[in-house]
Amino acid sequence: MQLGILSESTPGERRVAATPQTAATFIEWGWQVDVESGAGTEAGFPDRQFTEVGANIVDGATARNADIVLCVNAPSQMGDLKSGSALVGFLDPFVDGELITTLRDRGVSALAVEAIPRTTLAQSMDALSSQANIGGYAAALLAASSSPKLLPMMVTAAGTIPPSRALILGVGVAGLQAIATARRLGAIVYAYDIRPETKEQVESLGAKFVAAPTQEMDEGGYAKEVGQDTQAAQQAALASHVAESDMVITTAQIPGRPAPLLVTDEMVAAMMPGSVIVDMAAGSGGNVAPSAPDTMVDVGGVHIYGPTNLPAQIPHDSSRMYARNLVALLERTRTDEGFQIDLEDEIIGGTTITHNGDVVHPRSRQLLGLPDLAVEPTQTAEGGDE
Ligand code: NAI
Repeated sequence: MQLGILSESTPGERRVAATPQTAATFIEWGWQVDVESGAGTEAGFPDRQFTEVGANIVDGATARNADIVLCVNAPSQMGDLKSGSALVGFLDPFVDGELITTLRDRGVSALAVEAIPRTTLAQSMDALSSQANIGGYAAALLAASSSPKLLPMMVTAAGTIPPSRALILGVGVAGLQAIATARRLGAIVYAYDIRPETKEQVESLGAKFVAAPTQEMDEGGYAKEVGQDTQAAQQAALASHVAESDMVITTAQIPGRPAPLLVTDEMVAAMMPGSVIVDMAAGSGGNVAPSAPDTMVDVGGVHIYGPTNLPAQIPHDSSRMYARNLVALLERTRTDEGFQIDLEDEIIGGTTITHNGDVVHPRSRQLLGLPDLAVEPTQTAEGGDE
């Protein structure tokens, strides 16, 4: 069993899919670990730390030619991936149809971590959550470091400075961590989510819940897409809070849908110059009307950031968490002979996008306009979500 660890080719990506610690675990399993030279350097894991635990340092073609290839993002070069091998990483399986067909045609089994069911059983493998957690932390730091104001109240001989006011919209994994981080930095924090049960979570972190429309979840435990009337009511209820905030961090999202618009152009225009907005959903349409992916937009002195890869800015710990998620996932594929992709397994079945030259995930089949499979694996139409 040969495991390849790739050096990332996506611009700005500084994470790596394995650390020396997880490489040592794979070696204990009896697997050969081939790390592309320099793969961990930007995350603070130089080649020598991998060789110290018994891994080999190889070139990119050798790493890509392994039985299982681990990456953060799909490699730009696919030519060396061999038929019958598995590629594991963030593969954008419900959006990037071209990548999915390439992997299918090459006979590669694609395991996309975005499709890992968000169930209790799969918690240790949930890479979306581990990375969103870091993203929420990094968003709060970005807002704090870009703001011209202090976050905590300061009582000094030169006078008293009042605390900054932060507003977090969307209280899932990223939003909760953004609240906790802004609180630790000393801001007064307000937060809102469409799901009513988040009120208790917000208050347990010492923040205040903003009264705006809420609605029950769907049967999968996710927020439902809101209609135009609800959206207008949300915007009306949030307008004064946005205007009074020094920093706004938005994280609202429903998987597989465009991000809901929560902050309009008019709401931005009503903010004080010097205020900061970080729109974590800028990569999927944006929660904030003027935000743009990976750009800072200045609207009358309000600075609006739309970073799409915040975890890459904390590459050491985001890699550690991601690498552990992958160990937990691969543990389920491990057999005496090497590894096996069992589509009947509720986690592996839900995570596998292509296998044996076919697209086996219902949502990716929908994306590609393929008919439903006659016998479906354990996946649900919502991408394996519980
Ligand atoms: P999540 O699913 O845990 O949380 C999203 C929250 O948005 C949920 O609590 C949901 O109830 C809420 N929501 C949905 N529609 C809403 C509406 N109309 N009004 C108010 N709240 C609404 O997702 P997670 O993992 O926290 O990620 C949040 C977002 O951040 C996603 O868009 C994700 O893609 C993005 N993200 C961005 C990163 C970056 O670097 N920019 C890094 C990691 C995640």
